[in-house]
Amino acid sequence: MAFGFTKTDFVYINDSYNPDTGRWENEGQFLGPDDPKLMVHYASYGVNYGNSIFEGAKAYLGKDGHVRLFRIEENGKRFGRSAEGILMPPVPVDLFVKKVKELVIKNRNYIPAFDPDPNNRGSLYIRPLLIGEPGLGVRRAENPTFLIFVSPVGPYYATGFNPLHGMVIHHMVRAMPGGHGAYKTGANYVMSMLATAYAKKNGCQEAIWLDGYRHENIEELSACNFMCRIQNTLVTPALSDTILAGITRNSILRLAREQLGMTIEERDLPLEEVLTDADETFGCGTAAVITPIGKISAYHGRYTQEITKDVGELSRKLYDMLTGIQWGVVDDPFKWVTILD
Ligand code: PLP
Ligand code: COI
Repeated sequence: MAFGFTKTDFVYINDSYNPDTGRWENEGQFLGPDDPKLMVHYASYGVNYGNSIFEGAKAYLGKDGHVRLFRIEENGKRFGRSAEGILMPPVPVDLFVKKVKELVIKNRNYIPAFDPDPNNRGSLYIRPLLIGEPGLGVRRAENPTFLIFVSPVGPYYATGFNPLHGMVIHHMVRAMPGGHGAYKTGANYVMSMLATAYAKKNGCQEAIWLDGYRHENIEELSACNFMCRIQNTLVTPALSDTILAGITRNSILRLAREQLGMTIEERDLPLEEVLTDADETFGCGTAAVITPIGKISAYHGRYTQEITKDVGELSRKLYDMLTGIQWGVVDDPFKWVTILD
């Protein structure tokens, strides 16, 4: 199974935001996937100017038959921060969490069963959206639609849980200080199209972004955060307004520090240091889970460093720990999981 869109039985929509009261006036409704009310208006600010934000989470069907969500409140909080970042009215976290839970249960039949092989393992991807209303002048969307859809998915990268080849992008920029890189707006993703095409043309699968100012430090990948192991230290770029604060990133840092006793460093991470000193590198995110990066090409393809041939030992260990918690195979020491059913 690939990471793609499959229609399911129910989509959630809530159009009840009232700018006069500043409240979502009702709980919205669940509709069939082809209901005309779900169609996005051609004049929507979201379609025209990118006034839209989204989230990404997953529901997991464990071997024990239970459906689990992972740190879903954190997605709700980040949804609120992203909304505020483009001056949209936020959705209350409890409404967000409640509707995610209800929608997942309504689409329960679409959650792929647990598979011990990471490359065959699927989950139900959850995609909340906040989309600007119709309008024409460039201005804030103040009466948006809150929508959630779900889709069964497999691994985000076609390489699955195998090392991919990343390409450092030197001539394009994903995010600048003072910009919107830390918000989950659609606009941040369309920024990556040319870079991904460039990476693929050069035989790589994914773009690795540098800071937009000096072009020196690694920031993140187009769809996940970046980490590397240098001896027994796990290093990742410090959060800033140019990096998405990944929930997976935060969880992995905690697992590495508290369960594996590793030293953690959140700091500037120069590309040069990664190319010379890194013993393992990987991307991490909801869709990407943990995706090992075996090779990194830089300087427009003039230099390629092989970091690991196979999945690194730490990448595998963290993958097993994280997905073990998500699928209910191991204990959940930090109470990250909500069992739905
Ligand atoms: N960085 C970017 C650009 C992303 O799109 C994502 C995915 O959501 C992440 C990082 C990782 O965030 P999370 O772990 O919360 O999914
Ligand atoms: C996620 O990991 O949930 C994301 O939102 C990344 C997206 C590009 C698929």
